[in-house]
Amino acid sequence: MILSAEEEAILAGEEGETRARMLEILLALGKVYGAERLIPIRSAQVSGASYKTIGRFGLDWLQQLDTKVSVPTVLNPVGMDRSRWREMGITPEFARVQEQVLDAYRRLGVTMECTCTPYYLYMTRFGDHLAWSESSAVAYANSVIGARTNREGGPSALAAAIIGKTPEYGLHLVGARKPQVVICVEEGDRLVDAAHFGALGYLAGRLVGSRIPLLEGIRPKKDLLKALGAAMAASGAVALFHVKGITPEARVFSYPTEGLEVIEIGYGEISALMKEIPVDAVALGCPHCSPEELSRIAGLLAGKKVGIPVFVFAARDVAVHHPAEVAAIEESGAHVFADTCMVVSPAMERFGAIMVNSGKAFAYIPNMCGAAVRLGSTEECIEVATRPAAGAS
Ligand code: F3S
Repeated sequence: MILSAEEEAILAGEEGETRARMLEILLALGKVYGAERLIPIRSAQVSGASYKTIGRFGLDWLQQLDTKVSVPTVLNPVGMDRSRWREMGITPEFARVQEQVLDAYRRLGVTMECTCTPYYLYMTRFGDHLAWSESSAVAYANSVIGARTNREGGPSALAAAIIGKTPEYGLHLVGARKPQVVICVEEGDRLVDAAHFGALGYLAGRLVGSRIPLLEGIRPKKDLLKALGAAMAASGAVALFHVKGITPEARVFSYPTEGLEVIEIGYGEISALMKEIPVDAVALGCPHCSPEELSRIAGLLAGKKVGIPVFVFAARDVAVHHPAEVAAIEESGAHVFADTCMVVSPAMERFGAIMVNSGKAFAYIPNMCGAAVRLGSTEECIEVATRPAAGAS
C-alpha cells in the first residue's frame, strides 16, 4: 500500500505504540483485500461493547490501549441501560464489568452513545466514507443514505477510529456497489409494517447471503428500509441493498440487471413467518427506534396498560430529545431503555418467549437469549402486551 509521510511516521511509532499497532491492523486488512491506500473517514461505530459479547479477554485488550480516537466515534449497544440497569434486572456484578468496558472506551475519547442507529446522531451524507461495524447500521448507511462503509469488525472499526482512516476496498469503491441479484416481491403493497419488511429481509438474507440485492415491487419509507436491511444483514450478510426507484444509488445509477439471478418472494411466505405462540414479554426497537417509531408506539399504547413486560429500545440521544413520547410509553407500564437492546443485554434471558416486530431480533433471539420468538406487526405486539390476559395469545 502507498503510505503518506504522516502514516509512515505513525507506523514507525512516532505517535506511540498503540497508534502504530492500530495502523498495522488497517494495513493488514488493506493488504488482504487489495487496497492501495487509506482514505479519511467521517465517523466510526464500534461493536464489541457489551460485556456479554466481549467478556474478560475483550476488556483486558481495551484497557491496555493508550491513545484517542481521531473522528467522532460511538459504540454499539452495551449490555444494559447505563442509568437504569437495576430496573432491567441486571446484576451488580454484570453492571460493574460493563462499566469497566465503558470506562475503557471513554478513555479513548469515544462518545458515550451506545446505539445501532448512529445515523440519527451524526449528519451522515451520501458519499461519506465511514468505518461502522454493527451490521444493520452498515446496511442503512450504505443503502438508505448512500454513504460507504464495509462491515467492520470491532477491532478494525476501533483502529479506523483511532487513525481516522480506513483501507480503500470493497464498498468504498463505486464499482463494487452494483446489484448482484434481483429480488421481486409479489404483492409488495401489502407490506406496511416493520415486521413485514423484517420478514422479507429474513427470507431474502437467507437466499442472497453476502450478495448485493436489487429489490423490486416495494416502496418502503426509511424506517421500513431500516427493518429490511437489518434482517437481511442478520439472516444473510447483506451490507448494501438497492430498492428500485427508492434508495439513493438506485436513483442515481442505472443498474443493468440482465443476466442476474432473479428470486421471487411472495406475501404468503412473509406472513407464514408470523406464527402465533404464547409470549411472556414484548421487545420493540431492533434496530433502535426512530423518533417516529417512538411516537407510533406511544400512540398505540395511549390509555392502555401492559400486562406483560414491554421493552422499547432507542438511542439515548433520541430518547432524551423525545421526552413526551418516552413518558407516554412509560405511562402504560412499558419501559424505554437506552444504550442496550433485547439481543445484547442479559436482561432478556429470563423470558421463555419474546414477541418482536423485527426480522433481525427474530433471527437472533433464539440463540442469543435462549428464548422462543414470535414475529408480529407493531400493532399486534401492543395488542398482545395489553390484552386483559396478556401472554395468552
Ligand atoms: Fe440494534 Fe440490537 Fe437489533 S444492536 S439492530 S437493537 S440486535
